[in-house]
Amino acid sequence: MSERKKRLLTGLQPSGQLHIGNYFGALKPFIDRHSEFESMLMVADYHALTSLKNPAELKKNTLDVVLDYLGAGLDPKQAVIFRQSQIQEHTELAWIFECLVTVPFLQQSHAYKDKVAKGLEANAGLFNYPMLMAADILLYDTDLVPVGKDQAQHIEYAREAAAKFNNAFGEVFKDPKGIFLEDVATVPGTDGQKMSKSYGNTIPLFGTKDEIAKAVMGIVTDSSGERPANVYAMHRLLKSEQELSIIYDRNLGKYKILKEALIEDLEAFIAPMRERRNRYANDRDAVDAILKEGNEKARAQAESKMKVVREKIGLSI
Ligand code: ADP
Ligand code: TRP
Repeated sequence: MSERKKRLLTGLQPSGQLHIGNYFGALKPFIDRHSEFESMLMVADYHALTSLKNPAELKKNTLDVVLDYLGAGLDPKQAVIFRQSQIQEHTELAWIFECLVTVPFLQQSHAYKDKVAKGLEANAGLFNYPMLMAADILLYDTDLVPVGKDQAQHIEYAREAAAKFNNAFGEVFKDPKGIFLEDVATVPGTDGQKMSKSYGNTIPLFGTKDEIAKAVMGIVTDSSGERPANVYAMHRLLKSEQELSIIYDRNLGKYKILKEALIEDLEAFIAPMRERRNRYANDRDAVDAILKEGNEKARAQAESKMKVVREKIGLSI
Protein backbone atom coordinates (compact mmCIF):
# COMPACT_ATOMS: atom_id res chain seq x y z
CA MET A 1 0.00 0.00 0.00
CA SER A 2 1.40 3.39 -0.87
CA GLU A 3 1.93 5.86 1.93
CA ARG A 4 -0.30 8.92 1.99
CA LYS A 5 1.42 11.83 0.30
CA LYS A 6 2.35 14.70 2.55
CA ARG A 7 0.07 17.70 2.50
CA LEU A 8 1.62 20.93 1.26
CA LEU A 9 -0.27 24.18 1.66
CA THR A 10 0.61 27.74 0.93
CA GLY A 11 -1.31 31.00 0.87
CA LEU A 12 -0.89 33.89 -1.52
CA GLN A 13 -1.80 37.44 -0.85
CA PRO A 14 -3.31 38.84 -4.03
CA SER A 15 -0.90 41.73 -4.49
CA GLY A 16 -0.44 42.83 -8.09
CA GLN A 17 1.96 42.24 -10.94
CA LEU A 18 4.61 39.55 -10.56
CA HIS A 19 8.24 39.81 -11.68
CA ILE A 20 10.76 37.16 -12.62
CA GLY A 21 12.24 37.30 -9.09
CA ASN A 22 8.87 36.10 -7.75
CA TYR A 23 8.85 33.39 -10.39
CA PHE A 24 12.27 31.94 -9.54
CA GLY A 25 11.95 32.59 -5.81
CA ALA A 26 8.40 31.47 -5.13
CA LEU A 27 6.31 30.18 -8.04
CA LYS A 28 8.83 27.85 -9.63
CA PRO A 29 9.83 26.04 -6.41
CA PHE A 30 6.14 25.43 -5.71
CA ILE A 31 5.26 24.42 -9.26
CA ASP A 32 8.27 22.12 -9.60
CA ARG A 33 7.22 20.15 -6.55
CA HIS A 34 3.47 20.40 -6.36
CA SER A 35 2.72 16.99 -7.84
CA GLU A 36 4.92 15.20 -5.27
CA PHE A 37 2.50 16.24 -2.53
CA GLU A 38 -1.17 16.68 -1.85
CA SER A 39 -0.87 20.34 -2.69
CA MET A 40 -3.21 23.14 -1.78
CA LEU A 41 -2.89 26.71 -2.93
CA MET A 42 -5.06 29.25 -1.16
CA VAL A 43 -5.75 32.82 -2.19
CA ALA A 44 -5.60 34.71 1.10
CA ASP A 45 -8.30 37.22 0.23
CA TYR A 46 -9.36 37.74 3.86
CA HIS A 47 -5.76 38.46 4.80
CA ALA A 48 -5.62 40.98 1.96
CA LEU A 49 -8.52 42.85 3.60
CA THR A 50 -6.21 43.88 6.43
CA SER A 51 -4.66 46.36 4.02
CA LEU A 52 -6.82 46.55 0.89
CA LYS A 53 -10.11 48.44 0.99
CA ASN A 54 -10.87 48.61 -2.71
CA PRO A 55 -13.42 46.03 -3.94
CA ALA A 56 -12.52 46.31 -7.64
CA GLU A 57 -8.83 45.92 -6.88
CA LEU A 58 -9.41 42.96 -4.57
CA LYS A 59 -11.47 41.18 -7.24
CA LYS A 60 -8.91 41.88 -9.94
CA ASN A 61 -5.93 40.84 -7.82
CA THR A 62 -7.67 37.64 -6.73
CA LEU A 63 -8.28 36.57 -10.30
CA ASP A 64 -4.78 37.69 -11.33
CA VAL A 65 -3.01 35.59 -8.75
CA VAL A 66 -4.88 32.49 -9.92
CA LEU A 67 -4.09 33.29 -13.57
CA ASP A 68 -0.44 33.91 -12.70
CA TYR A 69 -0.04 30.48 -11.15
CA LEU A 70 -1.93 28.70 -13.92
CA GLY A 71 0.08 30.64 -16.51
CA ALA A 72 3.35 29.77 -14.78
CA GLY A 73 2.50 26.08 -15.07
CA LEU A 74 0.53 25.00 -12.02
CA ASP A 75 -1.53 21.95 -12.98
CA PRO A 76 -5.01 22.40 -11.53
CA LYS A 77 -5.46 18.62 -11.53
CA GLN A 78 -2.48 18.23 -9.21
CA ALA A 79 -3.38 20.95 -6.73
CA VAL A 80 -6.47 22.20 -4.95
CA ILE A 81 -6.74 25.91 -5.71
CA PHE A 82 -9.23 27.72 -3.50
CA ARG A 83 -10.23 31.01 -1.93
CA GLN A 84 -10.01 31.51 1.82
CA SER A 85 -13.13 33.67 1.97
CA GLN A 86 -15.26 30.90 0.48
CA ILE A 87 -14.64 28.53 3.38
CA GLN A 88 -16.21 29.96 6.51
CA GLU A 89 -14.38 27.49 8.76
CA HIS A 90 -11.21 29.61 8.43
CA THR A 91 -12.65 32.57 10.31
CA GLU A 92 -14.46 30.28 12.71
CA LEU A 93 -11.31 28.42 13.70
CA ALA A 94 -9.35 31.67 13.88
CA TRP A 95 -11.83 32.87 16.53
CA ILE A 96 -11.32 29.71 18.56
CA PHE A 97 -7.54 30.18 18.46
CA GLU A 98 -7.92 33.84 19.41
CA CYS A 99 -9.66 32.67 22.58
CA LEU A 100 -6.66 30.48 23.42
CA VAL A 101 -3.78 32.91 22.95
CA THR A 102 -3.00 36.07 24.85
CA VAL A 103 -2.73 39.67 23.74
CA PRO A 104 1.00 39.93 24.70
CA PHE A 105 1.66 36.84 22.60
CA LEU A 106 0.08 38.44 19.52
CA GLN A 107 1.85 41.72 20.28
CA GLN A 108 5.15 39.98 19.43
CA SER A 109 4.13 39.77 15.76
CA HIS A 110 6.69 41.50 13.50
CA ALA A 111 4.03 42.59 11.01
CA TYR A 112 2.04 44.22 13.79
CA LYS A 113 5.07 45.75 15.55
CA ASP A 114 6.41 47.19 12.28
CA LYS A 115 3.13 48.99 11.63
CA VAL A 116 2.99 50.38 15.13
CA ALA A 117 6.68 51.42 14.99
CA LYS A 118 5.96 53.38 11.82
CA GLY A 119 3.21 55.22 13.66
CA LEU A 120 0.54 53.62 11.49
CA GLU A 121 -2.78 52.48 12.82
CA ALA A 122 -2.94 48.69 12.96
CA ASN A 123 -6.45 47.34 12.60
CA ALA A 124 -7.64 44.44 14.77
CA GLY A 125 -7.57 42.20 11.69
CA LEU A 126 -3.84 42.81 11.34
CA PHE A 127 -3.41 42.09 15.04
CA ASN A 128 -5.23 38.76 14.70
CA TYR A 129 -3.67 37.93 11.32
CA PRO A 130 -1.44 35.13 12.71
CA MET A 131 -4.45 33.24 14.10
CA LEU A 132 -6.26 33.35 10.76
CA MET A 133 -3.10 32.03 9.13
CA ALA A 134 -2.86 29.33 11.80
CA ALA A 135 -6.42 28.30 10.94
CA ASP A 136 -5.55 28.21 7.20
CA ILE A 137 -2.73 25.80 7.89
CA LEU A 138 -4.19 23.63 10.65
CA LEU A 139 -7.64 23.05 9.15
CA TYR A 140 -6.13 20.85 6.47
CA ASP A 141 -3.70 18.74 8.54
CA THR A 142 -0.88 20.42 6.65
CA ASP A 143 2.59 18.87 6.92
CA LEU A 144 4.61 21.43 4.99
CA VAL A 145 4.19 25.14 4.37
CA PRO A 146 6.43 26.64 1.69
CA VAL A 147 6.83 30.36 2.33
CA GLY A 148 9.38 33.16 2.25
CA LYS A 149 11.61 33.61 5.32
CA ASP A 150 9.55 36.64 6.31
CA GLN A 151 6.72 34.23 7.16
CA ALA A 152 8.76 32.10 9.59
CA GLN A 153 7.21 33.75 12.63
CA HIS A 154 3.73 33.09 11.31
CA ILE A 155 4.51 29.37 11.06
CA GLU A 156 5.64 29.44 14.69
CA TYR A 157 2.35 31.09 15.63
CA ALA A 158 0.49 28.27 13.88
CA ARG A 159 2.52 25.63 15.72
CA GLU A 160 1.84 27.37 19.00
CA ALA A 161 -1.90 27.60 18.28
CA ALA A 162 -1.95 23.85 17.53
CA ALA A 163 -0.06 23.08 20.74
CA LYS A 164 -2.33 25.31 22.84
CA PHE A 165 -5.44 23.66 21.42
CA ASN A 166 -4.09 20.12 21.74
CA ASN A 167 -3.06 20.76 25.35
CA ALA A 168 -6.42 22.18 26.27
CA PHE A 169 -8.73 19.78 24.43
CA GLY A 170 -6.73 16.74 23.23
CA GLU A 171 -4.78 15.91 20.05
CA VAL A 172 -6.59 17.38 17.06
CA PHE A 173 -4.00 19.33 15.09
CA LYS A 174 -0.82 18.26 13.37
CA ASP A 175 2.41 20.16 13.94
CA PRO A 176 3.20 21.90 10.62
CA LYS A 177 6.69 22.60 9.31
CA GLY A 178 7.81 25.58 7.24
CA ILE A 179 9.89 25.13 4.11
CA PHE A 180 11.71 28.37 3.47
CA LEU A 181 12.04 29.52 -0.07
CA GLU A 182 14.71 32.09 0.63
CA ASP A 183 17.33 29.39 0.14
CA VAL A 184 16.69 29.98 -3.54
CA ALA A 185 19.21 32.48 -4.88
CA THR A 186 18.04 36.06 -4.96
CA VAL A 187 17.29 37.29 -8.45
CA PRO A 188 18.96 40.65 -9.09
CA GLY A 189 16.99 43.52 -10.57
CA THR A 190 17.95 45.82 -13.45
CA ASP A 191 20.06 47.90 -11.05
CA GLY A 192 21.85 44.92 -9.49
CA GLN A 193 19.99 45.13 -6.16
CA LYS A 194 17.45 42.42 -5.23
CA MET A 195 14.64 42.53 -7.76
CA SER A 196 11.62 43.92 -5.94
CA LYS A 197 8.45 45.74 -6.86
CA SER A 198 9.34 48.34 -4.25
CA TYR A 199 12.61 49.22 -6.02
CA GLY A 200 11.14 49.65 -9.53
CA ASN A 201 13.89 47.42 -10.95
CA THR A 202 11.81 44.51 -12.20
CA ILE A 203 11.34 42.45 -15.33
CA PRO A 204 7.61 41.69 -15.44
CA LEU A 205 6.88 37.97 -15.58
CA PHE A 206 3.97 38.30 -17.97
CA GLY A 207 5.12 41.48 -19.70
CA THR A 208 4.94 41.93 -23.47
CA LYS A 209 8.11 41.52 -25.49
CA ASP A 210 8.39 45.32 -25.69
CA GLU A 211 8.11 45.69 -21.93
CA ILE A 212 10.76 43.04 -21.41
CA ALA A 213 13.05 44.66 -23.99
CA LYS A 214 12.66 48.07 -22.38
CA ALA A 215 13.49 46.69 -18.93
CA VAL A 216 16.54 44.77 -20.23
CA MET A 217 17.87 47.77 -22.14
CA GLY A 218 17.67 49.65 -18.84
CA ILE A 219 19.91 47.15 -17.00
CA VAL A 220 22.75 49.04 -15.40
CA THR A 221 26.14 47.95 -16.79
CA ASP A 222 29.41 48.84 -15.16
CA SER A 223 32.08 50.02 -17.55
CA SER A 224 34.96 48.19 -15.85
CA GLY A 225 34.50 44.56 -16.92
CA GLU A 226 33.99 43.15 -20.36
CA ARG A 227 31.16 40.96 -19.12
CA PRO A 228 28.25 43.08 -17.87
CA ALA A 229 27.64 41.47 -14.48
CA ASN A 230 23.97 42.39 -14.10
CA VAL A 231 23.10 41.15 -17.59
CA TYR A 232 25.03 37.94 -17.02
CA ALA A 233 23.41 37.29 -13.62
CA MET A 234 19.96 37.46 -15.16
CA HIS A 235 21.03 35.38 -18.14
CA ARG A 236 22.29 32.66 -15.76
CA LEU A 237 18.70 31.99 -14.73
CA LEU A 238 18.00 30.81 -18.26
CA LYS A 239 21.20 29.25 -19.56
CA SER A 240 24.15 27.20 -18.28
CA GLU A 241 27.61 28.67 -17.72
CA GLN A 242 28.93 26.71 -20.72
CA GLU A 243 26.25 28.04 -23.04
CA LEU A 244 26.79 31.56 -21.78
CA SER A 245 30.57 31.53 -22.00
CA ILE A 246 30.31 30.96 -25.76
CA ILE A 247 28.03 33.99 -26.17
CA TYR A 248 29.87 36.23 -23.70
CA ASP A 249 33.38 35.37 -24.92
CA ARG A 250 32.39 36.05 -28.49
CA ASN A 251 30.91 39.43 -27.59
CA LEU A 252 33.36 40.89 -25.09
CA GLY A 253 32.39 44.47 -24.26
CA LYS A 254 29.44 44.42 -26.70
CA TYR A 255 26.75 45.19 -24.17
CA LYS A 256 24.00 45.90 -26.67
CA ILE A 257 24.39 42.54 -28.42
CA LEU A 258 24.48 40.73 -25.07
CA LYS A 259 21.34 42.52 -23.93
CA GLU A 260 19.60 41.60 -27.17
CA ALA A 261 20.57 37.96 -26.63
CA LEU A 262 19.08 38.17 -23.12
CA ILE A 263 15.86 39.67 -24.51
CA GLU A 264 15.51 36.78 -26.96
CA ASP A 265 16.12 34.20 -24.24
CA LEU A 266 13.71 35.87 -21.84
CA GLU A 267 11.08 36.06 -24.56
CA ALA A 268 11.53 32.38 -25.44
CA PHE A 269 11.13 31.53 -21.79
CA ILE A 270 8.21 33.84 -21.01
CA ALA A 271 6.15 33.55 -24.22
CA PRO A 272 4.67 30.08 -23.51
CA MET A 273 3.71 31.14 -19.98
CA ARG A 274 2.18 34.38 -21.24
CA GLU A 275 0.20 32.45 -23.86
CA ARG A 276 -1.05 29.97 -21.31
CA ARG A 277 -2.03 32.80 -18.99
CA ASN A 278 -3.89 34.55 -21.83
CA ARG A 279 -5.73 31.35 -22.69
CA TYR A 280 -7.00 31.09 -19.14
CA ALA A 281 -7.75 34.82 -18.98
CA ASN A 282 -9.95 34.42 -22.06
CA ASP A 283 -11.71 31.42 -20.59
CA ARG A 284 -13.28 32.63 -17.37
CA ASP A 285 -15.57 29.60 -17.27
CA ALA A 286 -12.56 27.30 -17.01
CA VAL A 287 -11.03 29.38 -14.22
CA ASP A 288 -14.34 29.59 -12.36
CA ALA A 289 -14.71 25.81 -12.66
CA ILE A 290 -11.18 25.27 -11.24
CA LEU A 291 -11.95 27.53 -8.29
CA LYS A 292 -15.38 25.99 -7.73
CA GLU A 293 -13.92 22.51 -7.62
CA GLY A 294 -11.06 23.66 -5.38
CA ASN A 295 -13.44 25.43 -3.01
CA GLU A 296 -15.61 22.33 -2.76
CA LYS A 297 -12.70 20.03 -2.01
CA ALA A 298 -11.28 22.40 0.59
CA ARG A 299 -14.71 22.94 2.15
CA ALA A 300 -15.33 19.21 2.56
CA GLN A 301 -12.08 18.83 4.49
CA ALA A 302 -12.55 21.97 6.52
CA GLU A 303 -16.07 20.93 7.51
CA SER A 304 -15.02 17.51 8.69
CA LYS A 305 -12.12 18.94 10.69
CA MET A 306 -14.32 21.56 12.33
CA LYS A 307 -16.80 18.88 13.34
CA VAL A 308 -14.05 17.31 15.46
CA VAL A 309 -13.03 20.71 16.82
CA ARG A 310 -16.59 21.56 17.83
CA GLU A 311 -17.00 18.23 19.56
CA LYS A 312 -13.77 18.67 21.48
CA ILE A 313 -14.60 22.12 22.78
CA GLY A 314 -18.18 21.36 23.72
CA LEU A 315 -20.04 23.11 20.94
CA SER A 316 -21.71 20.02 19.52
CA ILE A 317 -24.80 19.56 21.67
P1 ADP B 1 8.66 42.11 -3.69
O1 ADP B 1 10.03 42.20 -3.08
O2 ADP B 1 8.68 42.39 -5.15
O3 ADP B 1 7.62 42.91 -2.93
P2 ADP B 1 7.35 39.91 -2.44
O4 ADP B 1 7.84 40.30 -1.11
O5 ADP B 1 5.90 40.09 -2.78
O6 ADP B 1 8.25 40.60 -3.57
O7 ADP B 1 7.79 38.40 -2.69
C1 ADP B 1 6.96 37.31 -2.91
C2 ADP B 1 7.84 36.08 -2.95
O8 ADP B 1 8.71 36.15 -4.11
C3 ADP B 1 8.76 35.99 -1.73
O9 ADP B 1 8.33 34.92 -0.91
C4 ADP B 1 10.14 35.69 -2.25
O10 ADP B 1 10.46 34.33 -1.96
C5 ADP B 1 10.04 35.82 -3.76
N1 ADP B 1 10.95 36.87 -4.28
C6 ADP B 1 10.69 38.20 -4.37
N2 ADP B 1 11.72 38.86 -4.95
C7 ADP B 1 12.66 37.93 -5.21
C8 ADP B 1 13.98 37.98 -5.81
N3 ADP B 1 14.51 39.12 -6.27
N4 ADP B 1 14.66 36.82 -5.93
C9 ADP B 1 14.14 35.65 -5.49
N5 ADP B 1 12.92 35.54 -4.92
C10 ADP B 1 12.18 36.65 -4.78
N1 TRP C 1 0.82 35.54 5.22
C1 TRP C 1 1.23 34.98 3.96
C2 TRP C 1 1.99 36.04 3.13
O1 TRP C 1 1.75 37.20 3.30
C3 TRP C 1 0.03 34.50 3.16
C4 TRP C 1 -0.69 33.39 3.84
C5 TRP C 1 -1.95 33.44 4.39
C6 TRP C 1 -0.22 32.07 4.02
N2 TRP C 1 -2.30 32.24 4.87
C7 TRP C 1 -1.27 31.36 4.68
C8 TRP C 1 0.97 31.41 3.66
C9 TRP C 1 -1.14 30.02 5.00
C10 TRP C 1 1.10 30.07 4.00
C11 TRP C 1 0.05 29.38 4.66
O2 TRP C 1 2.79 35.66 2.30
